[in-house]
Amino acid sequence: MPSILETSVMQMMQKGKGLLAADESNRSVPKRLDPIGVESTPENRRRFRELYLSAPGAEEYLSGVILYDETLRQADSDGTPFAKVLSDRGIVPGIKVDAGAKDIAAFPGETLTEGLDGLADRLTEYYDLGARFAKWRAVIHIGKELPTQEMIDANSLQLALYALRCQEANIVPMVEPEVVLKGKHTIEKAEDITTATLTSLIEHLQKYRVDLKTTVVKTSMVVPGSASGQPMNPEQVAEATARCLRATIPDEAGGVVFLSGGQSSEEATMNLNAIAKLGPYPWNVTFTFARALQYPAIEIWAGKDENIKKAREAFMERLKANAAASIGAL
Ligand code: G3H
Repeated sequence: MPSILETSVMQMMQKGKGLLAADESNRSVPKRLDPIGVESTPENRRRFRELYLSAPGAEEYLSGVILYDETLRQADSDGTPFAKVLSDRGIVPGIKVDAGAKDIAAFPGETLTEGLDGLADRLTEYYDLGARFAKWRAVIHIGKELPTQEMIDANSLQLALYALRCQEANIVPMVEPEVVLKGKHTIEKAEDITTATLTSLIEHLQKYRVDLKTTVVKTSMVVPGSASGQPMNPEQVAEATARCLRATIPDEAGGVVFLSGGQSSEEATMNLNAIAKLGPYPWNVTFTFARALQYPAIEIWAGKDENIKKAREAFMERLKANAAASIGAL
């Protein structure tokens, strides 16, 4: 019989489905709500989440959702906890457990992610609240002298220790070293850095005895820097990304999922489609987008109940397109 971890991975990585990242911290939600003129209060954040989590039919395309601590403790308008709203429809609830990437003085321009203290106890509580997978995000910036191998490795070590704690709590670790899109770097440089980052990540996961079969790798696509002047060409992105993943991710890994990282909704979808077309890979690949799924629905919603229906239609359109893209069917 499959273990709890194996069952969760299978549910998360179903072919033709993907995941929504709805895990912005209370610190970063205003980036979404301010532009639509909605104040970031606990109730408005709950309404913002409900827009997506309770969208009828989302289960056709969604296999999981990453939640933030506050949302995991909140309920829909009928009083049903969000974790139950999801799991009743076969969508696996997940939880962001890191406490954010913080600057580190000795390594200007780089960050280390916080959140290991007390993690074992928090994971036990999250499991009881219904979470079956978790996310930890490390941030890797590309610059003239960046990133350093020291900070790539330090972030990989933290990801490995986090993953160990998750697996002992029967929670699937999603390990995310995000290579940031912002910058003047070329796609060739992005490929080098993403390859170095994932190489270090896998080395650390193996060294610290993390079970790769029940680990999901969340990665950036290999794309040119936002200020590079290089065009975003899906075929080129797909070739670079496929090369990088095949060179670094062992066959037994539980799955590979992509963040959108500030690409437009359409770019993220077309890039995912082109990547999937270069498959099959030894692992399933799919999306775990936040921004690329939330827009344009959030702008249509604008905080008004009368717009929910139209906003959900736009969300469903993005979901459907990305589900198709995850199998290269566009
Ligand atoms: O950690 C990053 C998020 O889970 C994904 O967000 O798709 O907007 O980059 P994004």
